Amino acid sequence: MANKILVTGGAGYIGSHTAVNLIENNYEVIIVDNLSNSEEKIIDGIEKITGIRPEFYQFDLCDIKKTNNFFAKHTDIKAIIHFAAYKAVGESVSLPLKYYHNNIASLINILQNMTDFNIPNLVFSSSCTVYGQPEKLPVNENAPIQPANSPYGNTKQISEEMIKDTILSNKNINTIALRYFNPIGAHKSSIIGELPIGVPNNLIPFITQTVAGLRKELSVFGNDYNTPDGSAIRDYIHIEDLAEAHVIAITRLLEQKNKQNFEYFNLGTGQGNSVLDVINTFEKFTGKTVNYKIVPRREGDVEQVWADTSFANKELNWKAKTSLGNSLLSAWNWEKKLRGIH
Ligand code: UD1
Repeated sequence: MANKILVTGGAGYIGSHTAVNLIENNYEVIIVDNLSNSEEKIIDGIEKITGIRPEFYQFDLCDIKKTNNFFAKHTDIKAIIHFAAYKAVGESVSLPLKYYHNNIASLINILQNMTDFNIPNLVFSSSCTVYGQPEKLPVNENAPIQPANSPYGNTKQISEEMIKDTILSNKNINTIALRYFNPIGAHKSSIIGELPIGVPNNLIPFITQTVAGLRKELSVFGNDYNTPDGSAIRDYIHIEDLAEAHVIAITRLLEQKNKQNFEYFNLGTGQGNSVLDVINTFEKFTGKTVNYKIVPRREGDVEQVWADTSFANKELNWKAKTSLGNSLLSAWNWEKKLRGIH
């Protein structure tokens, strides 16, 4: 019998790509998502790609009654990958309680049910945001955690702490926290991809929507950073490479190959690219022109961050494979398909 994995936020961007990869690796996937930032057609897409429709439940994991009922009915879940969370940094500054409530309450409900129903394995969606602006680059997992730049970032730090405390009190629970850098791109089939509701916050969907004609122009936030071209630097990792790392983490937990009961890994490419690099590479790989203007820095942005991935490379035997150009091309192919552009 296949191991049953609960993927919370499985209709979301990273969750859906991970669900595909899990199914392709013979895991049974069960998804809980409130569709607050996605649509049910993504579940259809998972089925189209894999030939298997994951069991899907639409409810909010902050709803304690519904969550408890769900776990009481699914006592055969072997592991959870917890993606369900809000992630817009700017919105979290203006609506902090929305972020604290959603991202923390849902995790409390999950950890409580893991304890009550003896579910031993958790993979948690964390973020490079926990490092703030690191003093040393590339940043490795031993870098000090910095005060969060935003309520969103703080929810990720608090979540890691909550998980650690839960594990201290219950040695049966094992967790791997995956600290993502900047996930981009879409599945090679262009059947699933990022589906931001409303105006995108993140760079790549803003670029693809601008080129598709949905937005007038991209605003590049700052060209006065202390970087070679003045724009901010990030580590952009392809979504399928990221999804693969989740399957490896789940397998590591199920096979009890983890060395600590709380492990954490950076997931990035190890390469930093500026916003202007991204625009230039996008133009080169797609043959399209990106309309953009330079505007002042965005509040809360760090200047530069990219990953030292050697720990994940060695311990998980995993490495990001997709180049920036191919990642951007996959994002554009998805946008074209979504908008019916030929
Ligand atoms: C942020 C978080 C990250 C989180 C992610 C989820 C930090 C440091 N990072 O990533 O933890 O997982 O959001 O949404 O808080 N940019 C523009 N114009 C735009 C949009 C973005 O120039 O219209 C620039 C940004 O200033 C930044 C880069 O593009 O330099 C990437 O931005 P974005 O895609 O929003 O991701 P982060 O802010 O790096």
